[in-house]
Amino acid sequence: MNPILEVRHLSISFLQYESGFRRRMLTVIRDLSLTVLPGEIVAVVGSSGSGKSLLAHGILGLLPYNASMQGSILYDGTPLDPARAARLRGKEISLVPQGVNYLDPLMTVGAQLRKGERGAEIKKRCREVLARYGLKEETQSLYPFELSGGMARRVLISSAVLQSPRLILADEPTPGLDAQSAGRILGHFREMAKGGAGVLFITHDLDLALTVSNRVVVLYAGETVEEASASDFASGKLRHPYTQALWKALPCGEFTAVSGAQPYPGEIEQGCLFAPRCPHCRAQCTSGEIPYHPAGNGWVRCLLSPQEEE
Ligand SMILES: Nc1ncnc2c1ncn2[C@@H]1O[C@H](COP(=O)(O)OP(=O)(O)OP(=O)(O)O)[C@@H](O)[C@H]1O
Ligand SMILES: [Mg+2]
Repeated sequence: MNPILEVRHLSISFLQYESGFRRRMLTVIRDLSLTVLPGEIVAVVGSSGSGKSLLAHGILGLLPYNASMQGSILYDGTPLDPARAARLRGKEISLVPQGVNYLDPLMTVGAQLRKGERGAEIKKRCREVLARYGLKEETQSLYPFELSGGMARRVLISSAVLQSPRLILADEPTPGLDAQSAGRILGHFREMAKGGAGVLFITHDLDLALTVSNRVVVLYAGETVEEASASDFASGKLRHPYTQALWKALPCGEFTAVSGAQPYPGEIEQGCLFAPRCPHCRAQCTSGEIPYHPAGNGWVRCLLSPQEEE
């Protein structure tokens, strides 16, 4: 089956001014590759600042003016440049943005959902999608400032799924929602995937990611460190020490924390970005490039697979 989304060796950098007129390129995403097949939910998991939102914005051509992007993005087998992304955005490809401030403060919910479409059909779809997320029809006449945080979030999701997209980029879609509302949203993603859509589910919550996704891509400080199938977690087949640490930090791993913190962009120039925190670190891990390579049914960016050492 051909991927609906293919990201190959994506890097995103920002041009920044330092003291005086000195400029530097700050690379915040490096060599990021992933694919999403139709019918699949792929989770992108990483802690705050690892580059998850930038990935979504890069795919959709929504990066700020001082950003530059290398690598390639294919949608349905064809390059997705910013112009094509703009044409497909909100239709075939939809974004559930991380912040509720993406709602237009001067437009009612109904007008934002209909996006200029008129007629009985769109009105019916709006009613249905709002009801699905537990929102009354009257919500359509409200302005964003009249919505609670949870309602605003459900409106954003309603807007993203209204046009039956083929690819959904959901950037932290459920924080602040009660378990029932979050479950409803994830259930709907699963249903849309069953209908053939691809879903890129962006979250910092590995536990949540594992409840719904087929595959998990783990980001660390702007780099993909591992791609694993959801079943690899419980079966102890994880390949990268950071993914293993994330797994052990969950309740089932007895909340074992790993010391240290993810480096800021540009802080570590060479070698493995996780090396300072890695229990298996060797001299060769701290210099040169660490290739992202296939391992079993997944991918890993690690010179030493701890399982192989035993
Ligand atoms: N416009 C910008 N200029 C410079 N650096 C930026 C810009 N936008 C984001 N960054 C940096 O890029 C990195 C990744 O940011 P991003 O928003 O993608 O993180 P994230 O994984 O989505 O985090 P969170 O979980 O908090 O949403 C961060 O270090 C951030 O400071
Ligand atoms: Mg984010």
